[in-house]
Amino acid sequence: MVGPSFAVRGEAADSPANRLRVAVVGVNGRGRRLTDVFSRLPGCEVGWVCDVDSRLLDRAAAVAEGAQGKKPETETDFRRLLDNPAVDAVVVVTPDHWHAHMGVWACQAGKHVYVEKPCSHSPREGEILVEAARKHKRVVQMGNQRRSWPMLQEAVELIRNGEIGEVHHARSWYANARAPIGRGRVTDAPDGLDFDLWQGPAPRRPFQDNLIHYNWHWFWHWGTGEAGNNAIHGIDVAIWGLGLDGKHPTRVTSTGGRYYHDDDWETPDTQMLGYEYGDGKKITWEGFSCNRLGAMGSGFGVTFHGSEGSIMIEAGNVYRVYDGNGRELRRVTPESDPADQLAGARYSRDAGHAHDFLECVRNGGVPASDIGQGHISTTAQHLGNIAQRVGRTLECDPANGHILNDPEAAGYWSREYEPGWELKA
Ligand SMILES: NC(=O)c1ccc[n+]([C@@H]2O[C@H](COP(=O)([O-])OP(=O)(O)OC[C@H]3O[C@@H](n4cnc5c(N)ncnc54)[C@H](O)[C@@H]3O)[C@@H](O)[C@H]2O)c1
Repeated sequence: MVGPSFAVRGEAADSPANRLRVAVVGVNGRGRRLTDVFSRLPGCEVGWVCDVDSRLLDRAAAVAEGAQGKKPETETDFRRLLDNPAVDAVVVVTPDHWHAHMGVWACQAGKHVYVEKPCSHSPREGEILVEAARKHKRVVQMGNQRRSWPMLQEAVELIRNGEIGEVHHARSWYANARAPIGRGRVTDAPDGLDFDLWQGPAPRRPFQDNLIHYNWHWFWHWGTGEAGNNAIHGIDVAIWGLGLDGKHPTRVTSTGGRYYHDDDWETPDTQMLGYEYGDGKKITWEGFSCNRLGAMGSGFGVTFHGSEGSIMIEAGNVYRVYDGNGRELRRVTPESDPADQLAGARYSRDAGHAHDFLECVRNGGVPASDIGQGHISTTAQHLGNIAQRVGRTLECDPANGHILNDPEAAGYWSREYEPGWELKA
């Protein structure tokens, strides 16, 4: 099946005939935000909002209607959207265990895909998603929006041009103060929630009352922990700035654990990840899910350490330059962000990335966070979690990230599925 091809830009793109019609799938926290963002963009209409929790649909539809003046249709089963030729693209904002399936099936149905990070629940799923994107010639952008932020693009350019000399190390971190999730009780799922379809590809487990929404992040069965939730943002910027796009690490380490609360949370709340790349370049990430003290006054950051100075990326679209003695030379903020004009300043950080995706769908370009690199950056985060789970350093093939000489660790490259839900490109 071949998707629509738009060769128009600017005002022409915004005419109803040329408008791209997208379906947003999973409309709770992040999905409601992206519903708002996409429905504000020129040349785009959110035609459908979809969620297995029908209690969320009216609110999401109202958000889109408020922004674009037209109410989207509502849907509870994603698979029906695939049969609808009017859907040009899907925006996948479900829990992680669904991302690759939705992305692959959408490509197979001729839809373009904006898939939230992490693009997969296991590295194998990412490989299949890349294969599907190429095979079906679809634009697939991952939602690590920092790749589209102008100040970060400028900072990366400076690093590449030698502003801070030779750079071997990037450090990244994330800090938050997340509350405990308690001990879940096995109960019936709430009315309006199709828990069977929520589980989708994941082997079935009974519903428990501390899982939905959001806390699935901290269960390996559905989530990828703080690494998949936030290390992915920092590590991806580090990879980008160090010029490591296209490469996987050769060695990966992790230390940490669930230390702060006695509850059902399985993934680490405190984690230190370390990556070595073959050419003397290194990345670290520190995650503090239960303590807000990050570093350098910021709960999120990436620092690049060069022979003649350093560059720090802040949580927002801002960077700082330091001399070789750690003295701050300048803090660079955007004078104006072109994305402000697209959807309003409140939305600009997400709008630029979403707009980039839509432009590539129209013009056939390669998006800022094409799924090829999205998969590689996501795999770095997965490898960190695998090192954590087996409790030892991983040796990896830099060409494809595959784990060497460790069958137990390599067993985490893919996951088990509910029978009948195996994924194929
Ligand atoms: N790029 C970013 O900055 C950013 C920020 C936040 C979240 N995210 C990502 O967005 C995703 C969603 O995160 P969240 O915090 O909104 O989670 P959430 O649990 O609050 O929302 C997920 C929604 O998906 C729905 N859903 C589950 N299975 C579905 C299915 N088969 N069909 C349709 N809907 C389904 C759920 O019912 C829920 O409403 C995660 O993968 C997360 O990593 C990205």
